[in-house]
Amino acid sequence: MGHESPAGDLRLTNLTKRFGVLTAVDDLDLTVPQGSFFALLGASGCGKTTTLRMIAGLEAPTSGQVLLGDRDIARLRPYQRPVNTVFQSYALFPHLDVAENVAFGLRRRGIRNVDDQVRRMLALVQLDGSGRRRPAQLSGGQQQRVALARALVNHPRVLLLDEPLGALDLKLRRQMQIELRRIQNEVGITFVHVTHDQEEAMTMADTVAVMNAGRIEQLGAPADLYEFPATAFVANFLGQSNLLAAEAAGPAGADVPVTAHGARFSLPVGRARSDRGAVYLGVRPEKLHLAGSADQVPDGHQHVDGVVTDASYVGVSTQYLIRTGWGSELVAFAANSGLGQRFPVGAPVAAHWDPRHAFLLPREPGPTDDRPDRPAARRAGEGAVANAPRHLLRRVVRPAKRRGAA
Ligand SMILES: Nc1ncnc2c1ncn2[C@@H]1O[C@H](COP(=O)(O)OP(=O)(O)O)[C@@H](O)[C@H]1O
Ligand SMILES: [Mg+2]
Repeated sequence: MGHESPAGDLRLTNLTKRFGVLTAVDDLDLTVPQGSFFALLGASGCGKTTTLRMIAGLEAPTSGQVLLGDRDIARLRPYQRPVNTVFQSYALFPHLDVAENVAFGLRRRGIRNVDDQVRRMLALVQLDGSGRRRPAQLSGGQQQRVALARALVNHPRVLLLDEPLGALDLKLRRQMQIELRRIQNEVGITFVHVTHDQEEAMTMADTVAVMNAGRIEQLGAPADLYEFPATAFVANFLGQSNLLAAEAAGPAGADVPVTAHGARFSLPVGRARSDRGAVYLGVRPEKLHLAGSADQVPDGHQHVDGVVTDASYVGVSTQYLIRTGWGSELVAFAANSGLGQRFPVGAPVAAHWDPRHAFLLPREPGPTDDRPDRPAARRAGEGAVANAPRHLLRRVVRPAKRRGAA
């Protein structure tokens, strides 16, 4: 990533918005490359809409800049900015037909001959022939397409989408996600898509910025964020992670040795976000494999012993909970490929992983505790864990039960 910005990049620099004592957006620095599909992902209340509203000109920043290329657009009025927004509530004009809804921006700019452009836009969103219908005669998904056409007809440099699929049912959402990608590919306009749905962000965007409490926790390609999260928050907001509280004493050669619960582990230096002091040793559930005993663990893998406490069959995979010797619970997903061994509840297992698939994260020092702080996951109605089986909504790694009276 270069520091020089091509003409059309959207850049937010030191962007801050305070509402009284509340800092909704906290010193945001962000570059959205021209023509990219960019997702701003975060739990409800983390400042996503406020960020979009400052880009659109609907909210004045407390401080900071909004640049499009080298031009600061932060002082321009909303209609002067080459930016359009699609909201979750489509806000179509009920008394205008579909074609006139789409033509609205053109007419307001005094353009008379709108038919061709409107027809092309309706074709783009696959609503050819629906121009004479009223919004009330359309399904939710079709109304959302009209809203999209109405924004794109203005040829904005940047299209802002604020949870645009939030009101659609799951199947329609999936369809519209694919549609939106196709449309973005076709028009090549920068899309900034706000969502609290991690799967939506990952399937759609080239770049995902994970936002937490007004700040960007991590930014990158979906696979990079998933495979090598930078913080415990990201490790658990984007999918799930087993996080073992561990201590590291710096690298030794190509590896970083760590101790966790009295056992020694290690992982390559390149997999460590932090290599000293209090750390989390992280392993994704699908990269944690089960063997019937320690002598069946493949060479080069590391393992912890445990007992299966729950095995739930969810079709494509079986999701296991494994209680470790020190009383934490780990989650392992095993693909139902028909090849692997199945383990019943109560079976002793060695849960093992390839250290190249593990990662090391900074951890707040303090009493040893396996519980990563998971504010996002606790808002469980949305986002990261919404589709997980209910028993997996518990924290992935739970602390040891205290013996005796607590
Ligand atoms: N106009 C406003 N006045 C006061 N507080 C606001 C206003 N708009 C948003 N907030 C607060 O700012 C924070 C971020 O809100 P928002 O940007 O809407 O989050 P998101 O879109 O990520 O759910 C929230 O705590 C919200 O209550
Ligand atoms: Mg919002």
